[in-house]
Amino acid sequence: MGNSCVGKTSIVNRFVGDKFDHTHKATIAADFQTKHLNLHGNDIRLQIWDLVGMDTNFAAINRSFCRNASGALLVSDITDMCSLEDAGRWKEQVDQVVAMHGEPIPMVLAVNKVDLVLDKESKGECEKYQQMEFLQQFAIQHGFIGVFRVSAKENIDVANVFSMLTKEMLIKELREMEN
Ligand code: GTP
Repeated sequence: MGNSCVGKTSIVNRFVGDKFDHTHKATIAADFQTKHLNLHGNDIRLQIWDLVGMDTNFAAINRSFCRNASGALLVSDITDMCSLEDAGRWKEQVDQVVAMHGEPIPMVLAVNKVDLVLDKESKGECEKYQQMEFLQQFAIQHGFIGVFRVSAKENIDVANVFSMLTKEMLIKELREMEN
């Protein structure tokens, strides 16, 4: 989830099919893709829903698509501070409608398009909100289990985002099975 044009579809396409498309085709309602993973000896079939990112109102369509989710990836664009603030708001809204065994579902923040600031960063010219220290504080304040600066375009840390999220989802599932 996340605002329009932040790169949600691009992240899923990179992760599932290792592809990247420079053009933007707005997602209508939702897309769905599957990815098989082996995590610590567990065979996992991830069902990934890529939701419409029209605005920050948690539209009924997203609410119904999220209801049975066991984890969520919130995406923002590193060049757009508003998309980061909105990701925090999206998370609050997800927390209100989605719970797994009575607890909030694990959510990871992916700050996408980091390729666009790497040059600036090497010259020490990055804005504060683009820096990892700021993003880590932001993630803690908003209750994300982790934050990554990623690039769907350059394939930076995309797989790590999904590994962290899947690991946390798996831990929750296994804990619940034991109870
Ligand atoms: P909606 O479906 O409208 O909500 O958009 P979205 O969030 O799914 O964004 P999408 O993946 O369609 O990407 C939007 C634009 O950003 C496209 O032109 C992509 O090529 C571009 N883009 C996505 N990821 C990256 C990235 O990591 N780096 C750069 N430079 N551009 C990216």
